[in-house]
Amino acid sequence: MGLSSLFSKAVLLVFMVEFMSQVCSQGGLFDVRASGAVGDGKTDNTNAFLATWTKACQSGGTMQIVDGTYLLKTIQFEGPCKGQVSFTVNAVIQAPQGKSTEHYWINFKNINGLTIQGSGTFDGQGPSAWNFSTCSNVPSCSSRLSPSVVLTKVNNSLVQNVKLLNSKGFQMKIEDGDHVTVNNITITAPADSPNTDGIHTGNINFVNIQDSNIGTGDDCISMGPGTTNINITRVNCGPGHGISIGSIGKLATDQNVFGVKVLNCTIRLTQNGVRIKTWNSTFPLSVADVTFQDIIMDRAHNPIIIDQHYCGGRRDCSGNSHVQVKDIKFIGISGTSASKIAVNLNCSSSNPCSDIELNNINLSFQDGTRAVSACSNAPRILYVGPQNPHACPQRLDPSMMLAYM
Ligand SMILES: *[C@@H]1O[C@H](CO)[C@@H](O)[C@H](O)[C@H]1NC(C)=O
Ligand SMILES: *[C@@H]1O[C@H](CO)[C@@H](O)[C@H](O)[C@H]1NC(C)=O
Ligand SMILES: *[C@@H]1O[C@H](CO)[C@@H](O)[C@H](O)[C@H]1NC(C)=O
Ligand SMILES: *[C@@H]1O[C@H](CO)[C@@H](O)[C@H](O)[C@H]1NC(C)=O
Ligand SMILES: *[C@@H]1O[C@H](CO)[C@@H](O)[C@H](O)[C@H]1NC(C)=O
Ligand SMILES: *[C@@H]1O[C@H](CO)[C@@H](O)[C@H](O)[C@H]1NC(C)=O
Ligand SMILES: *[C@@H]1O[C@H](CO)[C@@H](O)[C@H](O)[C@H]1NC(C)=O
Ligand SMILES: *[C@@H]1O[C@H](CO)[C@@H](O)[C@H](O)[C@H]1NC(C)=O
Repeated sequence: MGLSSLFSKAVLLVFMVEFMSQVCSQGGLFDVRASGAVGDGKTDNTNAFLATWTKACQSGGTMQIVDGTYLLKTIQFEGPCKGQVSFTVNAVIQAPQGKSTEHYWINFKNINGLTIQGSGTFDGQGPSAWNFSTCSNVPSCSSRLSPSVVLTKVNNSLVQNVKLLNSKGFQMKIEDGDHVTVNNITITAPADSPNTDGIHTGNINFVNIQDSNIGTGDDCISMGPGTTNINITRVNCGPGHGISIGSIGKLATDQNVFGVKVLNCTIRLTQNGVRIKTWNSTFPLSVADVTFQDIIMDRAHNPIIIDQHYCGGRRDCSGNSHVQVKDIKFIGISGTSASKIAVNLNCSSSNPCSDIELNNINLSFQDGTRAVSACSNAPRILYVGPQNPHACPQRLDPSMMLAYM
C-alpha cells in the first residue's frame, strides 16, 4: 500500500469519526439550567425539568443535570422520543420531604432507547416519610409509599453508574418493557427502612442487572410476576432481604416467571439469601428454569429458601399454593447462615416442587457448627457433589425449628 493510499485512508477515518460523533450528538445537549432549573435544594424544578425533557425527547438528545441539588416533585418523562435519549445526572436530584403515595416519584414511560447515566444521586428523602409507612412488615398492604425511579414500557435501555439513596418506597421498578440493562449502580437505604426494595421487576423480558451494590431495607432485587429471561450477575446484596423471586400468585392477573440466572453474587447480613416465595393461592402459575450459581453467603438468615406458604407477612397462612415451582438449580452456594436451617425447601402439598437440584452446597452455621436442611413437599431432589448441610430428609426436632426460624 502506497503512502498516498494510507493518507487517504487516514483522511477517510478522520472524516468517519467526525461524522459518527455528529450522528451521536445529533439532537444536542440540553442542560436543565437553560430552562430555568436551579440546583439550590430549594427551588421547585419540576417545570424546568419537563421543558428540558421535551426538547431532548423531541430531538433525540441528552438531558443534562450538573452541579448542585435539584428539588423535584412527582414527575413523568414520557415518550415516544425521536431516537436515543440520554438522561445524564452529575448532581443530586432530591424528592420533597414527607409522605407521598403516588405511583412514582420519577417515571420514565414509553421510551425506546433510553440511557440514564452519570455519577449523580436520586435522593428519595425516605427518612422523612418512613414514619408514615403503614406497610412495616405487611408487604401486601395497599397504600405503599412512592417508589423513586420507575421505568414503564421502557425498552432497549440502559441504567448505569447512578446512585439511588433512601427511597420512600421501592428504590427502582422496571415494568412492562423489554431489554433493559442495569450496570454499576449503587443503592443505599438503612436495613430497617420499610419496603425499600432495591430493584423490583415485573412483566419484563430480557433484563441484565450487573456489577452493582445494593443495600436496603427489603429485597435487594425482587423479581415479581411476569419477569422472564433475567440475568443478575456480580451483585453485592446486603443489608436487605436477599435476592427474591416473588411474591407470585397474589393476583389472578399474575404471569409466570421463568429464565432466571443469578450468578456470582455475594449476599451479606440479610434476612434471606436466594428465595422463591409464592402465595397460598389457587391460581395456576409457575416459576421455572431458575439457576442460582456461585453465590457467597455471609451470615444470611435463610440462605436457600423456597416458601410456598406466603400470605403477606402473616404467619397463619392456610391452604396450598397452586404456583408450580420447577426446574430450580442451586449450584455452588457457600458461606455462612445466621439461622440453623440453611436450606429450607417448604413447598406446596398440592403442587410439590419438582426438578430441584442442589449442587455443591457448603453452608455452615455462623458459629462454625453444622447447619441443617428442611424439606417439605420437595420429593426427588437431585443432589450433586458435596452437601453441607446434609441432604434431606433430616429428622428435625420441632422445638429446634421454632427456635431457629
Ligand atoms: C416496549 O415494549 C413493550 C412490550 O414489551 C410494548 O408494549 C411497548 O409499546 C414498547 N414501547 C416502546 C416505546 O417501544
Ligand atoms: C419517626 O418516629 C420516631 C418514633 O416516634 C421518632 O423518634 C422520629 O423522630 C421520627 N422521625 C421523623 C423523621 O419524623
Ligand atoms: C461506576 O460508577 C461510578 C460512579 O457512580 C464511577 O465512578 C465508576 O467509574 C463506574 N465504574 C465503571 C467500571 O464504569
Ligand atoms: C443471560 O445469560 C445467558 C448465558 O448464561 C445468555 O444466553 C442470555 O442471553 C442472557 N440473557 C440476557 C437477558 O442477557
Ligand atoms: C464467576 O466467578 C468465577 C470465579 O471467580 C469466574 O471464573 C467466572 O468467570 C465468573 N462468571 C461471571 C459470569 O461473572
Ligand atoms: C413451612 O411452612 C409452614 C407454613 O407456613 C410453617 O408452619 C413451617 O414452620 C415451615 N417450615 C419451615 C421448616 O420453615
Ligand atoms: C391463605 O391463608 C390465609 C390466612 O390463613 C387465608 O385467609 C386464605 O384463605 C388462604 N388462601 C387460600 C387460597 O387457602
Ligand atoms: C466448605 O467451606 C469451609 C469453610 O469455608 C471450607 O473449609 C471447606 O473446605 C469447604 N468444603 C468444601 C467441600 O468445599
